[in-house]
Amino acid sequence: MSLPSTYKAVVLPQYEHEVELQTLPIPEVQTGTALVKIESSLVNGDMRPIFSKPRNPMFSLPPPFVIGTAGVGRIIKSDTYKPGQLVFMDSMVTSRDDPSHFLVKTIFDAPSPQSKDLSAVFHKRSGYSAEYALVDVENVYPINESAINFDHDYLNNLSRLAVAFGGLKAVGLKPGETIAIAPSSGAFSSAAVALASALGARVLAVGRSESSVAPLAKKFKNVHAVALSGNQDEDVKALTKFGPLNAYMDFTPSNLSSAIYFKTALHALGFGGRVVLSGFIWSEVSIPYGLAVGKNLSVRGKIMYTRAELKELIQLVESGTLRIDDQYSGIKKFALSEFNESMDFAGKTKTFDALPILKN
Ligand SMILES: NC(=O)c1ccc[n+]([C@@H]2O[C@H](COP(=O)([O-])OP(=O)(O)OC[C@H]3O[C@@H](n4cnc5c(N)ncnc54)[C@H](OP(=O)(O)O)[C@@H]3O)[C@@H](O)[C@H]2O)c1
Repeated sequence: MSLPSTYKAVVLPQYEHEVELQTLPIPEVQTGTALVKIESSLVNGDMRPIFSKPRNPMFSLPPPFVIGTAGVGRIIKSDTYKPGQLVFMDSMVTSRDDPSHFLVKTIFDAPSPQSKDLSAVFHKRSGYSAEYALVDVENVYPINESAINFDHDYLNNLSRLAVAFGGLKAVGLKPGETIAIAPSSGAFSSAAVALASALGARVLAVGRSESSVAPLAKKFKNVHAVALSGNQDEDVKALTKFGPLNAYMDFTPSNLSSAIYFKTALHALGFGGRVVLSGFIWSEVSIPYGLAVGKNLSVRGKIMYTRAELKELIQLVESGTLRIDDQYSGIKKFALSEFNESMDFAGKTKTFDALPILKN
C-alpha cells in the first residue's frame, strides 16, 4: 500500500487556544513503534475546559500535541505487529523500565524528570484524533476480530472501562461482593458501575440525586441506585441496606474541593473493607483512626491501569463477558473536521448515552 507523505491531525497548538486541523508529515517508523491508520478516535468531554485555561503546571502536557486519548485502527508498518492487524490504542505511556514515570496522552505527565523526558517526545504525548499515528508498541493492543461481532468503533469504550478495571483490580473485587461507587454517573465512574456489574458484583450506584443514578440501575444488572442526602446516619443506612460494604470506589470529580462521600463510605464498610481512590482532587482526606484499625480497612489510590490489566479487559470483551457495544452505550460519529462539534457534544453527554468519536 502506498503511503501519503502527509496526514491530517487535530492539534492543540497551545493552552488558551482552540484546537485546529493541521497537516503533518507521515512519521518514520522506528524500532518499537507502529504506524497505524486510524479508523476512529475517542472524544473526551473534559478537553475544552482543560485547553481553554492557562496551562496547569501540575496537570498538562507540553503543547503542541495531537489530541485523543484512545483510538482504533489498523497496523500499516511495525516490527511487532502484522500489517492489517486491528488494534486498540490507549493513552497510558510509561517508561519501558519503570512504570512510576508516565504520561497520559492529551491530559498530563507525572512530575519526575523522566516523565518530562517522555512527554518531550511528540509521538509519545500525541493521541489519536488523526488519520495516522506513530504509536509505541506498548500502547497497541491487538484485537481478535473473529471474536467480536460489533462495530469496531465501540472499542473506544475500552478507554474509560480500563481506568475502571484498574480501580476494581486495586480493591480485588470478587463476584458476589457488594461495592459502592460514588459518584457514579460520570464517564469513568459509570464505566466502573457497568464493569463491576459484568464481573458479578452487587453494585450501589451512588449520587446526589435519584435522577442521575437511576438510569444506571435500569441499564445494568444487579445495580441499585442510592441517592445520598448529606446526613451521615441516613446515608450509612442507605449504603448498608444489603449489609456492610465489601468495597468502596471513590470517583470524586476534579471540580469538588473535598471527597464528599469518603467518610460516610468508611462507616458503611464491613470488616476488611477496601477503598480505592480513583478520582482526582488535590485536597486531603481524613480517616477516623480507630474505625480504620478496628475494621481492618485498607485505603489505596490507583492511577489508570497496567498493560496486563488492559489485556485482561480485552479478554473479557472477546469472550463476551463484558458488552461494550450498543448494550453498553450508544455511539455518535463525527467527521475528523467536525472536532469542535464533537467536543461540544462530548461535554454534554453521558458516556453510556452516546460515545462521541471522530471517524475517518
Ligand atoms: N484514577 C485515574 O487514573 C483516573 C483516570 C481518569 C479520570 N479520573 C478522575 O475521575 C474523576 C471522575 O471522572 P468522571 O469522568 O467519571 O466524572 P466527572 O465528569 O469528573 O464528574 C461527573 C460526576 O460527578 C458528579 N458531581 C459533579 N458535581 C458534583 C457535586 N457538586 N456533588 C456531587 N456530585 C457531583 C456528577 O453527578 P451528577 O450526575 O449528579 O451531576 C457525576 O457523577 C475525575 O476527577 C477524573 O479526573 C481518574
